[in-house]
Amino acid sequence: MKRSRVNAILREGEAFIRSFNFAMPPFASWSPRELIERRPAGIIDARLGWDITDYGQGRFDEMGLFLFTVRNGRAEDLTRGTGMLYAEKIMISRRDQLSPMHRHVVKAEDIINRGGGKLVIELFAGAPDGSLDREADVTVPTDGVLRTFKPGGKLVLEPGESVTLMPGVWHAFWGEGADVLIGEVSTVNDDLTDNIFAEPIGRFSTIEEDEEPYRLLVSDYDAALGSPA
Ligand SMILES: [Fe+2]
Repeated sequence: MKRSRVNAILREGEAFIRSFNFAMPPFASWSPRELIERRPAGIIDARLGWDITDYGQGRFDEMGLFLFTVRNGRAEDLTRGTGMLYAEKIMISRRDQLSPMHRHVVKAEDIINRGGGKLVIELFAGAPDGSLDREADVTVPTDGVLRTFKPGGKLVLEPGESVTLMPGVWHAFWGEGADVLIGEVSTVNDDLTDNIFAEPIGRFSTIEEDEEPYRLLVSDYDAALGSPA
């Protein structure tokens, strides 16, 4: 993806988020220079911030996701079973823009339609070997109510509705009818290791630098900041 395209998506995403009166934390509006100069370990090490991905496919409108990690706990705390075990993201799935079929090994996540269009989530159960089970029904909690789907069944979340996806449950999603503002509340998140895709695919974009970055992406941190403090 060209940096100019990433910059345009960031500006469009910021405006979309603002249109719902969702206020972002202060570091969301830091320039790359400010982030590089201040480099708070609490942001860099937890990998908070902007994340625009086309899953390495170069077709963002058809396959991609806009994310901002608002908070993220510590993997050690998760292992200990106490402390900061949680994470939060705000995301945008555009209309008919696919986030491809994947599961998580560690992370349980609530995916919440915060407003806009409908959010469609295609679901499969995990087979005992972790692969996608094309035979078994899949049951998920939706706002406290269990719902069961055939393999590949589509859960449609209206604004305000949510689903809890436990580790191992396969899911893909996209906006229907309009772009969707999505909330994610989860256990500690590690996007470097905890996304298993059904098809061979990347989690992050390769960026072609054709203009200055408007914001640093989380995937820029290592190159822009060196090793985390
Ligand atoms: Fe997920």
